[in-house]
Amino acid sequence: MRSPQFIDLTPPGPQPLAEEAAAGLQARPARLPPKFFYDALGSRLFDAITELPEYYPTRTEAAILADHRAGITAAVHAAVGRGATLVDLGAGSCTKAASLFAAFEPARYVAVDISANYLQGTLQRLQQLHPAVEMVAVGMDFSSRLALPADLTCGPALVFYPGSSIGNFAPAPALRLLRQAHAAAAGGALLIGVDCVKPADVLEAAYDDALGVTAAFNLNLLRHLNRLLGSDFDVRQWRHVALFNRAGSRIEMHLEARQSLTVRWPAGERDFDAGERIHTEDSYKWQPADFQALLHEAGFRHVEQWTDDLGWFAVMLARA
Ligand code: AVI
Repeated sequence: MRSPQFIDLTPPGPQPLAEEAAAGLQARPARLPPKFFYDALGSRLFDAITELPEYYPTRTEAAILADHRAGITAAVHAAVGRGATLVDLGAGSCTKAASLFAAFEPARYVAVDISANYLQGTLQRLQQLHPAVEMVAVGMDFSSRLALPADLTCGPALVFYPGSSIGNFAPAPALRLLRQAHAAAAGGALLIGVDCVKPADVLEAAYDDALGVTAAFNLNLLRHLNRLLGSDFDVRQWRHVALFNRAGSRIEMHLEARQSLTVRWPAGERDFDAGERIHTEDSYKWQPADFQALLHEAGFRHVEQWTDDLGWFAVMLARA
């Protein structure tokens, strides 16, 4: 019986993350990258978000992959053949990629995620279900840089980046990541989910749902910081703000101080006025033609695209 291989490329200890958090809190305006959402509770809250009626991206992408399964599979086989390496960026529970094993028939599955620990249990279970597939877990913060060990990308690969997570990067860092994905594909292809521009009320409801799950997801970042940094954020002094910035073509999420307050941690402190905000996330929404142009700029030669009837979401296969 095969067992999965584990490669941990995350820096040791919580120190670099704590330093990054402190620097973000001291910035003016304060700003923290969205990776701070994802402690154990934050990951569960995100899973709950994907089930909300207002949050259309997850179910719309799943419907596109199901409705166009035959066409997408044929295009993937034409790009990388059967028996290729499937590189799953932000693999998490690995369920999206695993649901495509039967169609894509990869010989090797490389799951990349910031949490190598989380991947360990998941891949062990997956290996039992797919004993013929070689499995490798790579723990890596690819939001800074995607650089896989050379022996994992020696032949054409299918890089899979679903869920519109590319939207959490501004256009310039998105282009950098797509260039790195192009290198990782090694002559293969990238299969990517892209969230498209749509009416502001639909977007704002998706990021500020009636049950308050997205608000809890945003506010939980403060509890995560308290553990990571030793800060004394009181969650009740903050409120969730989500707005569509049309000029920037992005949803912005912020945490807004309900009153003037001071946050302290062992190595520093920061005063906030009432109404002052911490910017916690951008989620860019693309016109499909603009995203295709970005893929070409990143080095991809040919792009095929599948969308839903409303044109709310696009799945693109870009050949390296
Ligand atoms: C992970 N990412 C694609 C989500 C998004 O839609 O930008 C994160 C999220 N933030 C609030 N709701 C969901």
